Formats: sequence, C-alpha cells, structure tokens
Amino acid sequence: MTPAAGETPVWTRKHLLTLRELSREEILYILDTAESFKEVSTRSIKKVPALRGRVVVNMFFEESTRTRVSFELAAQRLSADVIDFTEKMSSTQKGESLVDTARNIEAMGVDFMILRHPSAGAALDLTRAVDCCVINAGDGQHAHPTQGLLDLFTIRETKGRIEGLNVAIVGDIAHSRVARSDLQGLLKLGAKVTLVGPPTLVPAAFRQLGASVVHNLDAILPEMDVVNMLRIQKERITSSVFPSVREYVQLFGMDRARLKRCKPDVLIMHPGPVNRGIELAADVADGPSSSILRQVTNGLAVRMAVLFLCQQAASGAAA
Ligand code: CP
Repeated sequence: MTPAAGETPVWTRKHLLTLRELSREEILYILDTAESFKEVSTRSIKKVPALRGRVVVNMFFEESTRTRVSFELAAQRLSADVIDFTEKMSSTQKGESLVDTARNIEAMGVDFMILRHPSAGAALDLTRAVDCCVINAGDGQHAHPTQGLLDLFTIRETKGRIEGLNVAIVGDIAHSRVARSDLQGLLKLGAKVTLVGPPTLVPAAFRQLGASVVHNLDAILPEMDVVNMLRIQKERITSSVFPSVREYVQLFGMDRARLKRCKPDVLIMHPGPVNRGIELAADVADGPSSSILRQVTNGLAVRMAVLFLCQQAASGAAA
C-alpha cells in the first residue's frame, strides 16, 4: 500500500471527516487497504507494528459500543498505545470546552483523536484546534464516515461490486448520519440509492442529493439488491413523526413476509444498535440474509486502514 518512489500517493489526508470530501479513488483505496488488514485478524498473532510508538485517544461524548471498541481494537492491532477518554470522569464536567480539553490532551504527545460528539461539525472544529490526526467517529446528524466505509466494504465483499446495484436505505433518514455517509459513498461508487420511510423521516429534499425518495417499501423491495434498515433514533426525534411504533413496524419493519418479497440473494444490513421487533424481526436480524455481525467485523479492518493511511499521510506532512 506504500506508493513506489516518484508515484503520487492516492491518500494524502491526515484527517477523516466525511465521505463527501473524498474522491471515488480515495474511497476505493481505503477499501482495498482494509482488505489487506482484514487478513491480519485471521492470524494467530493479530498484530502488526504499523503504529508502534503512536498514541490514539478515543474521545467519545456520546454512547457507542461498535465504533468505540472497534477503534480501540484497531489501534491495538496496529501496535499503538490507546487511551480511552471518559467524558463523565473528565474536567468537561467542570466546564472545560472541547477545544481546551483537546489541546491539553494533545500536549501529552498524542497522534490521533477519534471523536464522537453530538454536535455536527465538532470534528472539523477539532482539526482547527490541534495538529494531530482527527477521525470523525460520528458528529450529530452530520456524518459517520467509517460506518459508511464499512457498509461499502461489506456490500462489495458480498456482491463483488457496488456499481449498478439497487440499494434501499430504510427508516429515519432525516436524523441519520449513517444515511448521509452511506448515500455519499454509494453514489460515488455508482450505486442507485432509494431512501424509504414516512415523509416525516424521509424529506423530499434528499432527492437533491441524487437519491430517489419513496414512501412505500413493499413497492420497491423486489428490485433491491441491498436493503439497509436504519435504527429509529428515539433520542433525536423531538416531535411525533409517526402515529405509533406499531404502524411504523407494519409499514417499514423487515419481517419474514417482507423478506420473501425481496430477491433471494438480497443483503439485509443494519448499522446497529438494532431495535429488535421494530426495524428488524429477530429471525431476519439473525438469518442468512443479514450482514449485521459481518459489518462489525469489517469495521475493524476499515478502521485499521483509516488509522494506517492517515498516519502515513501525517508522516509525509500531508493535507
Ligand atoms: N453503528 C454505530 O455507530 O454503533 P455504535 O453507536 O455502537 O458505535
């Protein structure tokens, strides 16, 4: 993955903030690098020295299981030292700002900050305050680039391609950073994307981003190669956006009957955490069409690739 002497490197960024700013070539380069790193996790000694002597700080200001643990494990597998910053035990509770907190942590000699924050744009703000690499692990409703990348990786691994596939993203599009990152990545790699859900959760304005917007899941299911079921984000929904959870499940939940309307080789995805019985019936979530746990496995390889490439770029004093 290291370019030959004189060759222009594809990846020159020391930060990863969104998929919107990446080219198709950059996205494919991360996916190809992640393929190499996936092999590391199959070895008896699951470690390479790529980030030996580097320090990675996980700064999570919102709850997380998959992203937090997988960034920690990815950094460990690259032989970095990892610090888990715990917001609730930190001086942010005494009023210290995010920027002051970050500058103080950086003063201890940190190479990476992995930031999850409830405010859109928080990771971008951080890049203006510190010199180390900043990776956006989810900022408000704005972006979740490594989730987008791991979803792309999983689709490509399963289907052998992304170009020309019909992909539905179903549910709470309005509040979803995953939907935004998936949409940006899928369109760049040539998929046709249909956003599905009640009008209150799937605004028509999303058509301007290059997707189709529909409100009838059953009508489009037979054409889909991939169906990505998003979580209903109770914590972000401030008004009544559908009459009842029961009605939502009837119209937009994926159960066995609805699965039968799909192509036999349809891929059912979900970024997690799953509200079982709402977005997905338990037997679909755990069934052969589901890639939920494979997505998590692939997230580790994708995050190793992102850490590795951003470190290489930072070492070369890149963008
Ligand atoms: N998919 C995802 O971001 O999960 P976590 O919130 O558990 O990290």
